[in-house]
Amino acid sequence: MEEHHLRVNGATHSVTCDPGTPLLDVLRADLQLAGPRFGCGMGLCGACFVIVDGHARSSCDLPVWAAQQSEITTVDGLAATGALHAVQQAFLDSQAAQCGYCTSGMIMSTVALLAENPAPSEQQVRNALEGNLCRCGTHQRIVAAVLAAARRLAAEAAR
Ligand code: FES
Ligand code: FES
Repeated sequence: MEEHHLRVNGATHSVTCDPGTPLLDVLRADLQLAGPRFGCGMGLCGACFVIVDGHARSSCDLPVWAAQQSEITTVDGLAATGALHAVQQAFLDSQAAQCGYCTSGMIMSTVALLAENPAPSEQQVRNALEGNLCRCGTHQRIVAAVLAAARRLAAEAAR
């Protein structure tokens, strides 16, 4: 057991755990952040995606020791002010979820994509979401939601 310091959603947290503990377990169990989900546990499904230093990535296969120097954002941190993030609102408006299990990971991949490429093509959206699986088959609506989110963010920026 060792003490680790993590930057999550703009705040610093200290947790005591084995250095090899997956970041996902620390987020959910120690920090009580229920947004990232456990799916495969092997970096293959995207359910646990968070943004680490600007890049969406799995948290189930990232040991906590390796995450200590990074800025981590979970879906829980997107609506910190109480208002939904534009990407969350676009997913809601586009009814881009059935069971919702994949949704937080999809949203985190989308936020990272649009930060890097504010006006992606449909193909670029599909490429960016390659690591996120949806067992309910809502991919069409998810792609539509990402494109709608891009338009929404552009409109917000123009205000
Ligand atoms: S639970 Fe992490 S990628 Fe599937
Ligand atoms: S909405 Fe059910 S897994 Fe995607």
